[in-house]
Amino acid sequence: MKEKFLINGGKILSGDIEVEASKNAYLPILAGSILCDESVTFLNAPMFSDIENMCEILKLLNVKIVREGHLLTLDLHNVKNEKISHEYTNKLRASIFLLGSLLAKFKQAVISYPGGCNIGTRPIDIHINAFKSLGVKITERHGYIYCNAQNMKAGKVVFSSVSVGATESVMMSAVLLKGKTTLYNVAREPEIKELASFLNSMGAKISGAGTERIEIEGVKKLKGIEFKVCYDRIIAGTHLLLGALLGKDMRIVGAKREDNELLFNILQESACNFKEDDLGVTISACGRSEAYKFIETLPYPNFPTDLQPQLMAFETLSSGTSVIKENLFENRFNHVMELIKMGADIFVKDRLAIIKGVEKLYGADVFASDLRAGAGLVLAGLVAEGYSTVHNIEYIDRGYEKLEEKYSRLGADIRRLPE
Ligand code: EPZ
Repeated sequence: MKEKFLINGGKILSGDIEVEASKNAYLPILAGSILCDESVTFLNAPMFSDIENMCEILKLLNVKIVREGHLLTLDLHNVKNEKISHEYTNKLRASIFLLGSLLAKFKQAVISYPGGCNIGTRPIDIHINAFKSLGVKITERHGYIYCNAQNMKAGKVVFSSVSVGATESVMMSAVLLKGKTTLYNVAREPEIKELASFLNSMGAKISGAGTERIEIEGVKKLKGIEFKVCYDRIIAGTHLLLGALLGKDMRIVGAKREDNELLFNILQESACNFKEDDLGVTISACGRSEAYKFIETLPYPNFPTDLQPQLMAFETLSSGTSVIKENLFENRFNHVMELIKMGADIFVKDRLAIIKGVEKLYGADVFASDLRAGAGLVLAGLVAEGYSTVHNIEYIDRGYEKLEEKYSRLGADIRRLPE
């Protein structure tokens, strides 16, 4: 059933909000769980639809799953190798992470080409080239990728360019591979460190995750464990920007400077006060910010592309002009038109968005086109004068849990209604 958010903007937000566990850590970790043949229990599995969709793929592979709230137990005693069709890969781009774990466990995999999505074509050439460099035989036909790893050998991989998913998938593929595999030109996102920490807790031997070189010493077997995944730094950043717009002692449990250094630099230059403690950050808005002149999205530790729409919503109200450059995805400005409907003054040229700050945004009917664009539109609606309706909120449910309930508890006037 299609739903929408109805928002009456302008409310001041106070109180505590807890950040959920990281979607982009959980997705590769769930794919990696099939490397062991015992049971794994996750203690804080959020109710994101992306996680439910990954669990559907695991069930296809004969993983028995029991979910009780945020407790998620996987019985991995009888995992089977199945062909993963487009009905799964179109729903979840992260399904491609299974390539690495299936090759590690079964030495072969057949998976449908993951669809693109609204932010770009999302090719997988970097994944394919990396696996080929380790001796995996790959043929692509009729929209499927047929992989045979019988002759896969431990060795050296230099990624043709930095890719989070390719780094994770190839790292997983080497966990049970005899010998030492070294990965260069890797992504360094915190989620990759979290995946390595999960696999090492099961008995893998991975070092260097989060640095420019990762080494994997193959082991014979992994054991079942209990695991708690780190906070979602993108959700934390979303709430921090909201707090800088509307907060009054709004406390974000799980927000950490080390996950979002550049965002904290921006907040330090903005009209807000915040203090950090060991559990999170308390933030209050205080007036209108000066526009942050220029920011560009780049791989970690630079500013994350997944916070670009939310930052843009924030900058629409700053005084002066800010420029945001989107380097990662070729089509990640779909929220611009929607923000303009609300009165924002934004001009897009290629990868650049030029945002001239306005005094106010006004409520409007706006349409989410992807997960983070949707989050940005919710922030804009919460700060706008009057009523906004955010449509296509199924995108938002992919990576935020009951967002309307959480923001209502802070004092926002936001309701989930059937379309
Ligand atoms: C991960 O996607 C995240 N998803 C994305 O978050 C995030 O935006 C992205 O990393 C960048 O940080 C998950 O972790 C599940 P990439 P991924 O491979 O792995 C190009 C969200 O909202 N590329 O690092 O797919 C690609 O087109 C999502 O939570 C190739 O050309 O990203 C992009 O331009 C959105 N060939 C760039 O590299 C490839 O084989 C970075 O992509 C792979 C990627």
